[in-house]
Amino acid sequence: MPRAAWSLPDLTGRTYLITGSNAGLGYFSTEHLVRAGARVVMTGRNPNRLATARAAVRRRVPGLALEQLETLLLDTSNLGSVRAAAATVRGWGKIDGLLLNAGIVHPPSRRETTADGHEIVFATNVLGHFALAGELLVPLAAALGRMVWLGSMSTSLTPYNPVDPQLTEGYSAWRAYVQSKVATTALGLEADRRLRAARIPVASVVAHPGYSTSGRTVGIAGVNEPSKVGRFADNLQAPVTQSKEEGALPLVHALAGAGVESGTFWGPRFALHGTPRRATPARITRDPDIARRLWTVAEEATGVHWP
Ligand SMILES: NC(=O)c1ccc[n+]([C@@H]2O[C@H](COP(=O)([O-])OP(=O)(O)OC[C@H]3O[C@@H](n4cnc5c(N)ncnc54)[C@H](OP(=O)(O)O)[C@@H]3O)[C@@H](O)[C@H]2O)c1
Repeated sequence: MPRAAWSLPDLTGRTYLITGSNAGLGYFSTEHLVRAGARVVMTGRNPNRLATARAAVRRRVPGLALEQLETLLLDTSNLGSVRAAAATVRGWGKIDGLLLNAGIVHPPSRRETTADGHEIVFATNVLGHFALAGELLVPLAAALGRMVWLGSMSTSLTPYNPVDPQLTEGYSAWRAYVQSKVATTALGLEADRRLRAARIPVASVVAHPGYSTSGRTVGIAGVNEPSKVGRFADNLQAPVTQSKEEGALPLVHALAGAGVESGTFWGPRFALHGTPRRATPARITRDPDIARRLWTVAEEATGVHWP
């Protein structure tokens, strides 16, 4: 088991917020962090799914202190919801880290927009996180904290059109997903440059989970319930995939591990699976012009202006 060769430090007294923590990588990141002693604020858009996930963590991690788990409603596709959640967190004074994990991973086949008028995948995966992180810089700085953006190996696979990140033309589900992951990675790296230039003591890091599938992950009622066919299909890919429990390791390492510097990119040792190691993000995501352009788009779309 890879975890034998890797572990988190003692995180007692630290608080982390995870978006989309009722399922998938966000759920298992929660388990890893609380096992290391951290307090985790589990967030999600559905109160029932969130309560089910919190109960599952309590069941699976014996001896958890009551104050180690908190839940908070946060729909990353809705800027009003993001602002409300951020206001609650600011009231707590400080936060050690944000895992900007929530995401639409199977986008709709036709372009859809949110109540705020943005393409739904870009809004959910990118804009909500840009707004959340920007709104929480003060509590993050109070803890010398980190934010972790979720990238993906898919960013190397599809040509990117930086002129139209919301795909007003030529939408496809795959393009919407890849564009959103180019954006989260480029913005995570740009955030590092801007935070350092403004001398704000917050680190911005990007991480990806390789290829982590539900069908290779332990079944948990209400949290991970793949069909038999799904398990069969996912197991056919076993040599190049891993469980979401394992896929969460680079994410929590980037968030709370030792030796992680701002502006770095982390993933599994063998690209698609394995223990955490530092990696190189796709060339397109390292282009500062594209990052600057995306930053302006994100600021204008969210109304959140970072220092
Ligand atoms: N799995 C992989 O191999 C892989 C590879 C590269 C990158 N990633 C990235 O890792 C992240 C998590 O992926 P995953 O595999 O864990 O996917 P998942 O199992 O589908 O989980 C996605 C999570 O995001 C939440 N979410 C979706 N829309 C939301 C919204 N509007 N507001 C708040 N939460 C929302 C979902 O909540 P609901 O239950 O309410 O939908 C769920 O908790 C994504 O950013 C994805 O791009 C995954």
